[in-house]
Amino acid sequence: MNVRKHWERIYRSQAPTEMSWYQPEARLSLDLIRRVAPDVMAPIIDVGGGASTLVDGLLDAGYRAVTVLDLAPTALAHAQQRLGERAAGVTWMAADVLNASLPAAGYAVWHDRAVFHFLTDLGDRTRYVAQARRAVGPGGHIIVASFGPDGPMRCSGLEVIRYSPAAMYAEFGAGFRLLDSVREEHHTPRGTIQAFVYCLYRVERGTEML
Ligand SMILES: C[S@@+](CC[C@H](N)C(=O)[O-])C[C@H]1O[C@@H](n2cnc3c(N)ncnc32)[C@H](O)[C@@H]1O
Repeated sequence: MNVRKHWERIYRSQAPTEMSWYQPEARLSLDLIRRVAPDVMAPIIDVGGGASTLVDGLLDAGYRAVTVLDLAPTALAHAQQRLGERAAGVTWMAADVLNASLPAAGYAVWHDRAVFHFLTDLGDRTRYVAQARRAVGPGGHIIVASFGPDGPMRCSGLEVIRYSPAAMYAEFGAGFRLLDSVREEHHTPRGTIQAFVYCLYRVERGTEML
């Protein structure tokens, strides 16, 4: 399957506000980001951000160095259209997180909601963790939100892996410290509830070679 085409088709067939993962406000993500990176100049990347409203919230909070990366250009176009002139203040990357060219230690915070859990192939998860490890400098933070152990088994026609905080930490492992995990019951636009788990990691110093 061509993953990019899959997601493009989804973003072309439905309004972002109708998608099961839609949040009018990405409150928990914003709170976690503000907790670990209170400086509004901190570079933040939303990986697989799609048309998420997190970027709106970050701009509202005053963040000045926000990047949104996604495989699907149509998803980014939805976000840009919503933001209007404010979109010019954001860096947009239409790319696959597994092989995107990202600046080494370029970000203080790496945020991912509902992307990592689609990586059912071990090799892809290894590449993802290596990308995160390289793009976030020591002392920086990584926030990954996936479906929890009692969350859905599929999303958008794709299988997912559901994670407890311990199971996800096992994927990240050495070089990362799990600082916190928070459960969220996400209310979809259709009124169902999905269990998410948000894990907050700090990239440890002195482990660059691990
Ligand atoms: C379930 S949506 C979540 C979107 C957004 N994070 C949110 O919470 O609203 C998953 C997103 O990940 C993107 N995606 C999937 N695989 C990706 C990859 N390998 N690289 C970059 N983006 C990817 C999809 O295009 C889609 O926008």
